Amino acid sequence: MIPIKNPEAIRRMREACTVAATILARLKEQVRPGITTYDLDQIGRDLIASFGARSAPYGYKHGSGRPYPAHTCLSVNEEVVHGIGSLKRILRDGDIISVDVTVEYNGYIGDNAVTVPVGAIAPRVAELLTVTEEALRLGIRQAAVGNRIGDISHAVQTYVEARGFSIVREMVGHGVGRTMHEEPQIPNFVDRKRNRTDEIRPGMTLAIEPMVNLGGHAVRTLSDGWTVVTADGTPSAHFEHTVLTTDAGPEILTIPPAA
Ligand code: MF3
Ligand code: CO
Ligand code: CO
Repeated sequence: MIPIKNPEAIRRMREACTVAATILARLKEQVRPGITTYDLDQIGRDLIASFGARSAPYGYKHGSGRPYPAHTCLSVNEEVVHGIGSLKRILRDGDIISVDVTVEYNGYIGDNAVTVPVGAIAPRVAELLTVTEEALRLGIRQAAVGNRIGDISHAVQTYVEARGFSIVREMVGHGVGRTMHEEPQIPNFVDRKRNRTDEIRPGMTLAIEPMVNLGGHAVRTLSDGWTVVTADGTPSAHFEHTVLTTDAGPEILTIPPAA
């Protein structure tokens, strides 16, 4: 069953998502050549604390593995998602970095990510970023009441693959609410008949998050138990928003307040 949020839950989701988006906007401004991903994560930790929020990834466990040790997820170049800030990873001109901020605020969770260039990047890598961001936009557009979850998947996959990039299959988007990962799963590819996936109804809060590789779709996990990298070492991009479904259409919740 996909949770349907009541008005009070939606109000709190709005707040959590606004906080998550504001933190992400500030953190991504800190990306520059010479900074380490450890320092970025520490800035993220301080920003989260300054809003009275809590990092949802920090201490998060999956399976029997070790708890996630960082406050934000920072994934450079061939790292797809769940990269752990490190003093050894110094950003250089030409890199890209996915900055993923997930916070709990007043009992609800907002989840969002962007991939940003570090200095000047190669044209095909720049295209990877614009295509992944546009795929997210097209996916969000399909998050309309009466559509199915598979319509989101189909829109993302079709657009990305037509441009010669590949979709990561091992991780998917998800419902989000009191917990970081709720039903439904939102794959970025069609893995079963679209008309067998769940119908979208008003009051769902969905984290839509295409992960797109420049090379092949295969990924593997590093020995730290978390960092997912492309198998062929090519760069990967990731954009994410938390979206509320309404009768008036999808509404992106992870937007910072107008300045
Ligand atoms: N932000 C991630 C997502 O988009 C979740 C973080 S996974 C963790 O779903 F293990 F790092 F917590
Ligand atoms: Co995320
Ligand atoms: Co997510």
